[in-house]
Amino acid sequence: MTGPQTHEDARALLRIAVAAAAEAGRLLASWRGDERPEVIETKSSPTDVVTEMDRRSEALITGRIRAHRPGDAVLGEEGGQTAGGPAGDGSDGGRHGRVRWVVDPLDGTVNYLYGLRDWAVSIAAEVDGTVVAGVVEVPRHGETFTAVAGQGAWLHRGEATVALHCTSGVPLGQALVGTGFGYDAGRRQVQGEVVAALLPYVRDIRRGGSAAVDLCSVAAGRLDAFYERGLNYWDFAAGGLIAREAGAMVGGLAGKTESTSMAVAAGPGLYQQLDKFLTRLNPERDVQRSQERNA
Ligand code: IPD
Ligand code: CA
Ligand code: CA
Repeated sequence: MTGPQTHEDARALLRIAVAAAAEAGRLLASWRGDERPEVIETKSSPTDVVTEMDRRSEALITGRIRAHRPGDAVLGEEGGQTAGGPAGDGSDGGRHGRVRWVVDPLDGTVNYLYGLRDWAVSIAAEVDGTVVAGVVEVPRHGETFTAVAGQGAWLHRGEATVALHCTSGVPLGQALVGTGFGYDAGRRQVQGEVVAALLPYVRDIRRGGSAAVDLCSVAAGRLDAFYERGLNYWDFAAGGLIAREAGAMVGGLAGKTESTSMAVAAGPGLYQQLDKFLTRLNPERDVQRSQERNA
């Protein structure tokens, strides 16, 4: 038998994720913010930075997960995929399916670097390739977003917990739409063209700087929709579940599932309108452009 046999199993995974995310959030927030953390490396482009804090956060999270579940795989932005060791004492009686944790130890690194408040720790738990639980911890707002597949999505702030519901019945022309831009210059150029074409047809556009927070904003009705081309899986694994459990449709364009090519989230109705509009604009055309450039 694979997969969590009861919602209780997914909730147990969520508890581990929530505790690890809270601790990582405290670590990240402990940086005083009156001096910038040092950029220690750039990744895909000179603007794609990693700080010592990204690494320390991921090491902490991986350590906490392994302490509870040594046999699980972890996919982390900074460390890549690491397999689990022997499954320890077998105290779960072999009930769990194959669990993989998907971790963005600091989503919104550029905001973090500049002392802006929208950055988050994002942790999702997959069982046999399906995300069953997710947490997005947003320390500077004192907010924790959680979801369990089939069980709903919640916002925890202090002692209060509220169930999340995305907006519904918003026409495209009245929609506040979040988006983001990748780090590759060629991709950004196309993303700029797409957002320029969309802007006259929506209420307004927001670029928050953390895809995980943006997806939680859709869940909370703070944004009506979100789309982004070229996210990594760890950017949307937890936030996608949270948005979906809050009633949003989450997917790609033209019937595809959400992926590293395109992720879209919006209430039903608006999703279809945005899907149609974006599909016409072909936001994935940056691949053709770069192929043409390299030909
Ligand atoms: C980035 C943020 C940003 C999105 C980028 C992501 P990072 O993640 O989510 O909002 O537009 O595409 O790469 O690099 O801060 O973890
Ligand atoms: Ca990220
Ligand atoms: Ca990150």
